[in-house]
Formats: sequence, C-alpha cells, structure tokens
Amino acid sequence: MLLTGTGRLAPAGLSPWAIVVRDGRIAWVGDPADAPPDAERIDLGHALVTPGLVDSHTHPVFAGDRSDEAAARLEGAPYTEGGILRTVRETRAADDATLERLVEARLRAALAAGTTTVECKSGYGLSLDEELRHLRIIGRVAGRVPLRVVRTFLGAHAVPPGTSAAEHAAHVADDMIPAVGREGLADFVDVFADDGFFDLDAAERIGRAAAAAGLGLRLHAEQLTRTGAAELGVRLGAASVDHLEQLDEAGVRAVAASSTVATLLPAPAIVLRDRLPPARALLEAGASVALASDANAGTFGGFGAMPLVIGLGATLLGMTVVEALTAATSGGAAALRRDDVGALRPGTAADLVAWDAEHEGAFALRLGSVRPSRVWISGEEIGLSG
Ligand code: NIG
Ligand code: FE
Repeated sequence: MLLTGTGRLAPAGLSPWAIVVRDGRIAWVGDPADAPPDAERIDLGHALVTPGLVDSHTHPVFAGDRSDEAAARLEGAPYTEGGILRTVRETRAADDATLERLVEARLRAALAAGTTTVECKSGYGLSLDEELRHLRIIGRVAGRVPLRVVRTFLGAHAVPPGTSAAEHAAHVADDMIPAVGREGLADFVDVFADDGFFDLDAAERIGRAAAAAGLGLRLHAEQLTRTGAAELGVRLGAASVDHLEQLDEAGVRAVAASSTVATLLPAPAIVLRDRLPPARALLEAGASVALASDANAGTFGGFGAMPLVIGLGATLLGMTVVEALTAATSGGAAALRRDDVGALRPGTAADLVAWDAEHEGAFALRLGSVRPSRVWISGEEIGLSG
C-alpha cells in the first residue's frame, strides 16, 4: 500500500510525502516522486498526518462518578486518598461485564481521538483478587479493540482501610507482584509514591519486587509533594516517572541524566489547580519527555483527550507544537519502552492518523477539537464510529 499526501507529515515536517506499507509495517518514507509504484494507492490530500498517538498513562478500570468531588475540590476541599477509596468501593461492586463495557467504551473513545497505543493501569482494586480481576478485564477488552494495549499493575495506588502503607506495600511486593508476573498479567508495575500514599521505602520495596518478577517499573512521582520519588525511579531504572509537578532543578538534572522518561500530565494538574511540571527545563536539560492523559476516575476524566493534552503541552507547558506532538508519540513509546510504535520510519508499525487539520499548529489553535478523519493500525484502516 502506498499512502501519499501534499499536506504535512508531522512531527517530522515532511511535505509532500509518501509512505509504503508492507505487512502492517512502514517499509519506506520519502518524497512521492521517488516512491516505488504500488497497485493500492491512497491519496490523503492536504490532511495533516501523524503517527498514531501513544497515551502512556491511563487508569480505565473503574465504576462510579466523582464529578461532585471535583466540584468540591474547586471550592477548596483537599485531594486525599478518600476519593480513590470511594472508586475502589464502587469498582469492587461492579461485575465483570459492567467493567468490561466501561473499559471498552473508554478505549474506543481514545481510539476515536487518535490514540492507537494505550497504557492501562489497574489500581482501583487494591486486594489481590480484585487487582488480578482488573488486569484480566483489561486483557479481555484488549482482545476486542484494535488499539495496542500495555498493562500496568498499580496495586499500590492507595492504602486500603484497616492496614498501613508499609503493610500494604509488603503485600503488594511479596504476594501480588509474583502472582501478576506468574500469570503474565502486566508489563509494568506502578506505585503512587507521594505523601499520604506510599513513601520511598515502600516504593523501593515494590520496585525491587517488580524487577525480581521481570516486570518494568513506572512511578507516580512528585505530584503532590517533592519526595525524591523521581530520583528513586532513576536509581531503580524505571521506564518513566510520571506527573513531576513539584520537581525542582536537582530533580530535573537527575531525570535528564538518565534513560528514565519524564511523563507530563497537564490535564490533572489543571483540574487539581496544581503547579505545572517543568517541561521547558526538562527539555532544555536533555530529558526524554512524554505527554499523556492520565485519564482516571478522580483527577481527570478525559478518555479521548490526547489532542487536548498536546495542545496543553504546547500552550500551558511552554513546549513547541512539534515537541508536544513528539512527546505524545515517540515520547510515549519511549515511556513504554517500545520502539515499534510512535514514529513513522522503516520498520515501525503502520499506525497513522489523518486529521481534520492541515498543520500541527491546529493542536494548539483548536485546543482539544482536532479530530482524526482516518486511522490505520498495522496498515489496516479502522472504522471510526460516532
Ligand atoms: O494519576 N495520582 C494518583 N492517581 C490518579 C488519580 C486517581 C484518583 O484520584 O482516582 C492520578 O492522578
Ligand atoms: Fe495516574
């Protein structure tokens, strides 16, 4: 298949462009004048074309609605683990079919907005049985949707009632992670490492158990307080440290000097009226930066918001549009330790989006209202319903 366009292929900035797809992968990228002939030829005209977006941080397995809590917070109520525990109660009460329906609708909304690879965390179960149930639900839904799904086990998302953070961390490290690893239910382990949730000792114990089980590590770090979780992530070889709203200069230097990706989540930062993460400082220090949605039950509910997230990166976080788009494609792929998605170069998966826009600047100009007109995953066009 030969795809061509007279518009822009971003973030590379090629125009006009041609892409040859063979067996679901990109075989060749270049000028249409040099493209090898192909019987199947699709001309995308002036449309902006990008790699499929990679959303490397979401929490889609939950039931219930916490919009009331968001409203109360904006009137001054604090953000505590109580909100997460409310979702845990409602999610535990939901049967498999209900949760599968909710997860599938969320992932389809993400796909309709241009996400072709999505990371999905458990974390609203907290007990062994519930966490494994949620990871299995993600796995079953992944089999029914065309997106590429990467699973993350977040058993240490909050401290369940009747136990302490240290006790729960020990249970996560000693019982849950080995079970997740044995059953092959996740690629990564994540910990909410923050004040009032899990401290650095707890996070380290969990990170070491993840490594022992052959699982990658990612951390919710420096969101509410500057704890040193970013440096811990670097030291443990985490694929990514996510949030970073409170990161200071020393933290920026530590992340930039490592191969750990800095994943920035501007949407929950603004919903919580939190500080914004130091995107510019990270980029200038040479860090690898990803942008992700953090779609979840309590601090940002936007499944399908990646175009908005790119726009927020480019406006609020001071990134250029090309930096923001790169962070939402190859940056997200790096945060998931994947080199087969997030970029259009020979060998990568033919995951592409043609947008209802002509220039990547539309992500900033139209904040959240840029939509895919056509999407391909592994070279197969995906029907976008609705
Ligand atoms: O990434 N920070 C921790 N977890 C989620 C919020 C979860 C919730 O409040 O339900 C986040 O923002
Ligand atoms: Fe999160």
